[in-house]
Amino acid sequence: MIRSFYFICFCLLAVLLSGSCGRNYDDTGTAYAPDMYYSEAYEPYKQRADAKNPYNVWGNNLWYPVRGTISRRNYQTTFGSGDSAVTDLMVYNLGKEDIEVAERTLRNPVPLNDATLQEGQVLYSRYCQPCHGENGNGDGPVGKVYKGVPNYSVGQYKTMNSGHIFHVITYGKGRMWPHGTQINPADRWKIVHFVHQLQQQ
Ligand code: HEC
Repeated sequence: MIRSFYFICFCLLAVLLSGSCGRNYDDTGTAYAPDMYYSEAYEPYKQRADAKNPYNVWGNNLWYPVRGTISRRNYQTTFGSGDSAVTDLMVYNLGKEDIEVAERTLRNPVPLNDATLQEGQVLYSRYCQPCHGENGNGDGPVGKVYKGVPNYSVGQYKTMNSGHIFHVITYGKGRMWPHGTQINPADRWKIVHFVHQLQQQ
């Protein structure tokens, strides 16, 4: 009696084990507490084959871009009627170490006029003035405490060209922090126009 009981137990165990170890090596088998591995939330960059998202017509978590969406690489900007479109303004391909390349090759694609200069001034007052000061003398209220902020209109700083300034805003330099993630490229170029004006003082 006892023996046949053990035998039945053994058979059951054999059946259970053979069920969980299939021959298909891609099959992870039965999972214990799958919620621990597979998030129940609708993760935009994860799509479970067995879980359709009921809130989306196609059943996937990530929505397609709306019709008419333009990828950044093909984004074209114009700043006034009659301007030729400026391509690639939104993508800055140079690396942090390439400041000399920036000096040599970059031209300010934003036309210089009263409107862009004024916008540059507003942006400067928000992002740069606390350190660099109203007139770019390095005497902003934060600059006085932070120390070492240069005067734009003295020595080597007087002749910094547009590419150099754009690169410094994007990546920072020395003790100055990068601003590339806070200010979009078009706005950075407007600030460059205004910094040029401060250099001339
Ligand atoms: C937190 C203070 C701070 C802010 C904000 C700041 N700067 Fe600076 N900036 C500095 C300091 C400090 C230096 C000197 C860096 C060094 O040489 O170590 C500097 C240097 C520079 C230089 C000269 C770089 C060179 O070639 O030596 C430029 C150009 C410049 N900043 C532009 C800007 C502009 C434009 C903004 C606004 C978008 C800005 N900075 C915001 C502190 C700041």
